[in-house]
Amino acid sequence: MTPNSAAPSVRDARPDELDAAIALLDVAFERDPFVGWLTRGDARARRRYVTLVTRRLIAPRGRVLVDDSLRAVALWMPPGGWNLPLGTQLAMLPTLARVVGTRRLFRIAKVSAAIEEGRPAAHWYLALVGTSPAARGTGLGSAVVEAGLALARAEGVPALLETSNSANVRWYERFGFAIRRRLDPPDAPPVWTLST
Ligand SMILES: CC(C)(COP(=O)(O)OP(=O)(O)OC[C@H]1O[C@@H](n2cnc3c(N)ncnc32)[C@H](O)[C@@H]1OP(=O)(O)O)[C@@H](O)C(=O)NCCC(=O)NCCS
Repeated sequence: MTPNSAAPSVRDARPDELDAAIALLDVAFERDPFVGWLTRGDARARRRYVTLVTRRLIAPRGRVLVDDSLRAVALWMPPGGWNLPLGTQLAMLPTLARVVGTRRLFRIAKVSAAIEEGRPAAHWYLALVGTSPAARGTGLGSAVVEAGLALARAEGVPALLETSNSANVRWYERFGFAIRRRLDPPDAPPVWTLST
């Protein structure tokens, strides 16, 4: 981006744009180590996972932020957003079982609990961010991340995320994220937890 070019404008995805947002994230996470492990390298499971996170977790209670041309998407969960009613959690279980495999459910729950340990009570959480491959390097990913960080700053709470891609750590450090922990779950890719 040249210094004079306008900053990309960021807004909430409309309900009729969620399918496009899901398709974009699905492609963006094709090579993500943790999502690949979670979904056992199965493309249909990955699509289900991205749909679950976008439609059922984030859209009803968080922010699906997109750039105006819908080439970058960031899913942000607000403080308290993970406190899901038991009924909501149970309703998601069958889909989750199809994503990770019924026999792996308990193991995935243990890894998730280890990752979530020590999170501050109030925070904005960046669940997924992706830019369509052809639009990378043009500032769109930064724009949707910055928009969520502004929400966290306005509330005086930190922003959190996890990544299993060490290259992404450097990208996130540009925004003021710093590594809190590195986890090495057995048989799973390493995971870095970062916070502002
Ligand atoms: C990470 C991602 C969202 C960045 O989106 P983007 O729109 O290309 O990012 P921006 O254009 O705002 O930033 C590009 C800048 O960051 C750098 N950059 C992009 N991805 C990077 C990475 N993974 N590691 C380090 N630097 C990176 C670029 O070289 C560029 O640098 P420059 O400004 O000096 O030219 C995008 O690469 C993507 O969708 N990746 C696959 C999904 C993913 O890994 N998401 C994060 C999972 S935790």
